[in-house]
Parts: sequence; C-alpha cells; structure tokens
Amino acid sequence: MILSPSLLAADVTKLDLELLKASEMGAKYIHIDIMDGIFVPNKTWEPSFLDKFPNDCPLYKDVHIMVVNPMEHAKEYVKHGASGVTFHLEACKDKEEVLSIINMLHEAGVDAGLSIKPNTPVEEILPYIPYIDLALVMSVEPGKGGQSFIPSALDKIKAIRDCIDKGSYKCLIEVDGGINGETGKSCLKAGVDILVAGSYLYGHDDYKERAAVLFNHD
Ligand code: DX5
Ligand code: ZN
Repeated sequence: MILSPSLLAADVTKLDLELLKASEMGAKYIHIDIMDGIFVPNKTWEPSFLDKFPNDCPLYKDVHIMVVNPMEHAKEYVKHGASGVTFHLEACKDKEEVLSIINMLHEAGVDAGLSIKPNTPVEEILPYIPYIDLALVMSVEPGKGGQSFIPSALDKIKAIRDCIDKGSYKCLIEVDGGINGETGKSCLKAGVDILVAGSYLYGHDDYKERAAVLFNHD
C-alpha cells in the first residue's frame, strides 16, 4: 500500500513540518488538492504553491486537480514540478481531450491520473486504463475534506482492479475521501493501491499510530 496524506487537512503555514510528518507516517506520496472555485465550490492553491516545497522533499507530488480547463492547469503543475497530475474525466468535453492531456503529461515525463466522481459510472473510466498511470476513485463528492466515505466506491475499485489484472496494465488505483482505519481496510480488500487520507491523519498528535492502522491491515 502507498499512503498519500492530503495536505488539505494540514497546517500549510508549517509546510516543512507537515511534509516531515508525512514521511514519519511512512508515506511515499503527498496529496495536493487543487480546487478552482468552479469545478468545485472551494478554491485552494495556485501552481506556485509547489515552489514552496523543499528541494530535497522525498515525497512524490501527487497533484489532484479539481478544475475546469484541465489541460491548461495540468501544464502549469508540470512546470512547477508535479510528479503526477490527476484530472477529472467530468471536466473534459470528449475522449480526444482526455487522451491529449494524458499525452501531454507523458511527453513531459509526468504520470497521468484520471479521476471519477461518486456519481460517474465506473464503465466511463475503463477505456482509459491502458493509457494511464493512476485511476482515482473519489469516495466523497470532491471539494472538501472531512466527509463520510461513500461505499459504492468499493465496487468501482473492484471493477478497475479486475480490468487492470485482466489486461496486465501498470495503472495504480487510488481512493480519496473519508478514508480512516475502517474504510481504508475495506478499500485495500477491494484492491486499491494508494490511500489518500486527510482529516484522519493531520491535526492529530497520534498521526504515526493512525497511519500504522492503515498499513497493518489483514
Ligand atoms: C476532497 C479531496 C480530498 C480530501 C480528503 O475533494 O480530494 O483529497 O483532502 O479529505 P478526507 O481524507 O478528510 O476525506
Ligand atoms: Zn484529493
């Protein structure tokens, strides 16, 4: 399992410390939620936010863009050092746009992720699985942290797992929203590779123990 703590729940005025905490949790990724106030009601950071990361930050910059005009934004996050950029299928007008963003990311040497919201059928993401590095299943409505896990995400994870295994694709599956000790375990059973967790981890003194619960599943 790869852990991707979400900075949305962190105190980014102490970014270095919060990134260090992610490493102490055993995380290899750090999840960066970009909201534009249009695709989702809230607004978060600009691409320059990535410039604040220390040069020696060992974490994979897992950038999740919840925005309209995903191509334009994705290019900016590439410029500012994202390791992977995950955009929303719902933000694209057609298949051609989806494939052109994936190609742009790959030409830049950046991993391409595609995400679906809770109300988007899993069948819509399956045709892209051979071409992407990450499939992000949203288990809450995107836009804010601290919401409850929507259980239908589990069947989506299983369907994507099945597709990846049948085709021997390299795509990883990530789940985002409402992840805690219980829901994280269910997602791992369903076949997820990466757990995003914000409010379960950040803001708690026992963040290391909480992360250990996610790692020590059976
Ligand atoms: C929600 C974001 C999530 C958020 C998860 O739109 O995509 O990454 O930080 O927060 P929790 O883990 O608190 O549900
Ligand atoms: Zn996210």
